[in-house]
Amino acid sequence: MKKKPEKVLITGGAGFIGSNIAKKLMDRGDRVVIIDNFNGYYDPQLKRDRIKKFLKGYKLKLYKGDIRDEKLVGRIFKTEKIDKVIHLAAMAGVRNSLLDPKLYFDVNVMGSLNLLEAAVKHKIKNFVFASSSSVYGNNKKLPFSEADPVDTPISPYAASKKTDELIAHTYHHIYGLNVTALRYFTVYGPWGRPDMALFLFADAITKGRPINVFNRGKMSRNFTYVDDIATGTIAVLDKAKGYGVMNIGGDREDTLMRYIEVLEENLGKKAKKKMLPMQPGDVPKTVADIRKLRRLGWKPTTRIEEGIKNFVEWYKEYYRV
Ligand SMILES: NC(=O)c1ccc[n+]([C@@H]2O[C@H](COP(=O)([O-])OP(=O)(O)OC[C@H]3O[C@@H](n4cnc5c(N)ncnc54)[C@H](O)[C@@H]3O)[C@@H](O)[C@H]2O)c1
Repeated sequence: MKKKPEKVLITGGAGFIGSNIAKKLMDRGDRVVIIDNFNGYYDPQLKRDRIKKFLKGYKLKLYKGDIRDEKLVGRIFKTEKIDKVIHLAAMAGVRNSLLDPKLYFDVNVMGSLNLLEAAVKHKIKNFVFASSSSVYGNNKKLPFSEADPVDTPISPYAASKKTDELIAHTYHHIYGLNVTALRYFTVYGPWGRPDMALFLFADAITKGRPINVFNRGKMSRNFTYVDDIATGTIAVLDKAKGYGVMNIGGDREDTLMRYIEVLEENLGKKAKKKMLPMQPGDVPKTVADIRKLRRLGWKPTTRIEEGIKNFVEWYKEYYRV
């Protein structure tokens, strides 16, 4: 049976992940409303271009504003008659959170609380939000499972995301809100974030500058292609009920050195590597146990060889390299 179109509010929809999800939802006929404050954490022109160029020709409703603005959030829910919410707006970035922890808590916690309040008031059918693999901190047991205790975050960013998971449970318990926290594992792909490794590396390599390789390259990740993140998030939006926490990550563990190698191959240029020690707040290894999300029929399909190729094609065209 064909799915009835729904109206989905995407917070942070001008962001990397949000714009990719918006496109997929609109491609299948859903209507999308975005709230984003286009903040200057990284070049807001890239955010504007995601709306203007990447989402060109799509009919969406855009609100420029802050999720902490209670009045505005209330007005959006009321006038737009939102069915479901994908809440991604946040201050992202582990390292930056050490510089301004108050801002991270204000946006990530108080902003999320605002949205949960509005979701309950307006009887939202499903509320899916971005948590992060960083909640696992220095978890020694691999792969990281949703059943593992995550009571010892090692950055303000991770602590803010863990707090969101706790508050979300409260709102489910008291008000019966359907709410799922998705723990995203290192996302990459076209229209990506300039503060993330792949982007920083591409920028440095093309300009002939050395790249910083932390923990002397002894790192590995379940790098997750943004398309897989979008399909997984939408599967949860469609099917998840009650309260849940779910990992969403690629199913192959790649080393940082292999990630750099594939990037070098695609850029046709070798990187000058500056080997550095581990950074505070960072972790050497993240591997996702994704069995829970697989049960909803989702699986990641993009390997880094294909994903990085797509990223480099976009990067070269967008920055006219
Ligand atoms: N990219 C990853 O690898 C990754 C990994 C784990 C978790 N996450 C989480 O996923 C979500 C999306 O991440 P992303 O990579 O797309 O980041 P992004 O920074 O590209 O997107 C976030 C968007 O939210 C907006 N925003 C920030 N504060 C806001 C506020 N107060 N009001 C309104 N809008 C605001 C920003 O302008 C931005 O466009 C975030 O919650 C992030 O913490 C991302």
